[in-house]
Amino acid sequence: MAKKILITGGAGFIGCHTTRYFASKGHEVVIIDNLSRKGTPENLDWLREGHPVTHYETDIRDFEAVTDIFKREKGFSDVIHLAAQVAVTTSVANPRDDFDINALGTFNMLEAVRNFCPHAPFIYASTNKVYGLLPHIEVVEGARRYEIKGKKGVSESEPLDFHSPYGCSKGSADQYVVDYARIYGLKTVSFRQSCIYGERQFGVEDQGWMAWFIIAGILGRSVSIYGDGKQVRDVLYVHDLVKLYEKSMEQRNALSGKAYNVGGGLENSLSLLEFIEILKDQDLQLSFTFGDWRPGDQRVFISDNTKVEKELDWKPETAPDQGIRNLMSWVRENKKMLNFLLGDSNDADRN
Ligand SMILES: NC(=O)c1ccc[n+]([C@@H]2O[C@H](COP(=O)([O-])OP(=O)(O)OC[C@H]3O[C@@H](n4cnc5c(N)ncnc54)[C@H](O)[C@@H]3O)[C@@H](O)[C@H]2O)c1
Repeated sequence: MAKKILITGGAGFIGCHTTRYFASKGHEVVIIDNLSRKGTPENLDWLREGHPVTHYETDIRDFEAVTDIFKREKGFSDVIHLAAQVAVTTSVANPRDDFDINALGTFNMLEAVRNFCPHAPFIYASTNKVYGLLPHIEVVEGARRYEIKGKKGVSESEPLDFHSPYGCSKGSADQYVVDYARIYGLKTVSFRQSCIYGERQFGVEDQGWMAWFIIAGILGRSVSIYGDGKQVRDVLYVHDLVKLYEKSMEQRNALSGKAYNVGGGLENSLSLLEFIEILKDQDLQLSFTFGDWRPGDQRVFISDNTKVEKELDWKPETAPDQGIRNLMSWVRENKKMLNFLLGDSNDADRN
């Protein structure tokens, strides 16, 4: 049966793939996106080449405007909340804006759902940053990568430990999402996502680092590696994440405020040195320099996906080799636009 799905941040990187996927399956998709992120008008044009979608250029901080949309659209069957301020550096420079968008904006969305469509599944894109720096995790240094000693990754049993204004604002939103199921019975779920990558990612130095490396390499620029290049992240191809959103919507009655760690997992983890090697194998010779570690840089983060695999019957399907190949083709095909859009951009988040 066709659904009527609201996707906030639907013109962003993860949002445009989510929108395109559900619209192509015949569902009605409504987007709220204030187009504050570079590349969003281009993503909207791309979306419009496919299936029709309704876009409201509205700010999620504006509760009255959000309420008007819910009234006009007569609620939604499902809500996927992706709109956010995503840069750690921006959050440090302007913590109030960051709080307003991520914490208050999410609160506004939850309130609108509670008031107008309390039976709609509410999917929230949280972040692995809710676990902070994990100082107690023992790290082993190998020849080309760091490893977590004695564990396949970080599970949901890790204590929450918000760092940076971004960590605090996303973490508060995460806890509101969990609690609105307990207190108001909403069908919420919080996905604590690791590094997501794929086509249409307008990556800058630290936010969307895989896309940033590939874009920089193809545009002939040098990239900086902070630390020794052995730092490891688990990476998840965006189309696999969209499948998880779909799976969770199919299991709407099981959604009751749980939080899940979601990433590529150990099998899809890469150190920077290993990533650069994959690029080389795919004919991209990257020019790079080494600099000092930055405060707060983690040696290794890998998501333990056991809970989400078991309870939502989902796991990553796309190997980094393939995902990187697809991302690289997109960058090559859109070199001119990326050069124009990203200019000297170096804004930074750490995912
Ligand atoms: N990309 C990752 O690696 C990653 C990892 C963990 C979590 N996340 C989370 O996933 C979500 C999507 O991330 P993304 O990578 O697609 O980022 P993105 O910046 O491409 O998308 C965010 C979208 O939200 C919109 N937006 C920002 N502020 C808004 C506001 N006040 N009102 C309305 N729209 C607004 C932007 O224009 C943009 O289109 C975010 O919530 C992010 O925190 C992403």
